[in-house]
Amino acid sequence: MAIGTPLTKFLLDEQRRYPESTGNFTSLFSDLVVAAKIISREVNRAGLIDILGSTGAQNVQGEEVQKLDELANDMLIRTMEHGGHLSGMASEEMEEIVKVDGKFPKGSYLLLFDPLDGSTNIDVNISVGTIFSILKRPDGSDTTTKDFLQPGIRQVCAGYILYGSSTMLVYTTGHGVHGFTLDPSIGEFLLSHEDIRTPEKGKIYSINEGNSKHWFPATSIYIEKIKANEKGYSARYVGSLVADFHRNLLKGGIFLYPADRKSKNGKLRLLYEANPLSFIIEQAGGKSSTGDKRVLEVVPEELHQRTPLIIGSKADVEEAESFWKYQEA
Ligand code: AHG
Ligand code: MN
Ligand code: MN
Repeated sequence: MAIGTPLTKFLLDEQRRYPESTGNFTSLFSDLVVAAKIISREVNRAGLIDILGSTGAQNVQGEEVQKLDELANDMLIRTMEHGGHLSGMASEEMEEIVKVDGKFPKGSYLLLFDPLDGSTNIDVNISVGTIFSILKRPDGSDTTTKDFLQPGIRQVCAGYILYGSSTMLVYTTGHGVHGFTLDPSIGEFLLSHEDIRTPEKGKIYSINEGNSKHWFPATSIYIEKIKANEKGYSARYVGSLVADFHRNLLKGGIFLYPADRKSKNGKLRLLYEANPLSFIIEQAGGKSSTGDKRVLEVVPEELHQRTPLIIGSKADVEEAESFWKYQEA
């Protein structure tokens, strides 16, 4: 499809390619896009909050100033719960799931999200993002937490919105990865990156080296090897997973947040951080691993479960995995 195609047209064309489609998914996705545009606006205004008079804990109306990650969370819930296509939502910001059934006709999808990833970077004007994953609701009358505990291979859609120098939406439904850039003058996402393919091998490695004192030997040995590589890898790590992932997706490379002595299961969350990005990287020709297995095949036991994550260019991830195997031997 032509570069510059509006997302709304792109979605309708995609829908037409699948005659069995009911249009429910397209409508659900459009709601998500509205929430993304609102969050994008709020993120862009974040630096103005003090200047516009909302000092301390209160804004001009005397209301509590909401933290941006909570605001993004509320925005997503409010926008999505009225659409009629969801039966439940789960978020990094909420201990429990939100059931949508009962209030409205029961929808056939579940939405999971990290409303604002990299939120410690907001104050310093570094890119943050929203990561989401969409699952089919299993049959059954009530919506329960268990419904959300599906392995990543069952995702029907995954994506992220990156609030960077431009706002971008990147998503997959299992038919390639597409990227759209928000044109703020018309309020539309326009196709800017069609069928993204990540390089087979990269020259970037992204890991928090401040954790090296806690690393297991496999991580230390692998990172030493990368640094000694003749071709010269570059270290790049902003500390917003979504931004680090996006850069490596386009340029090639490897991102690691492994298990270490301090974080026995890694830090990142399986259901709304690792799984959606793993679906995207695989669709783009890359690879994602816990170190010893494919992330997308992990069967979740808890909603907020953490997982080690090694993700990026296929050859790089496979090389890293060989070190993890060596560690276990
Ligand atoms: P969040 O802002 O949603 O809590 O996620 C923060 C995550 C992720 O974005 C990033 O990759 C990681 O934390 C950075 O962690 P370290 O500061 O431990 O490197
Ligand atoms: Mn996060
Ligand atoms: Mn977050």
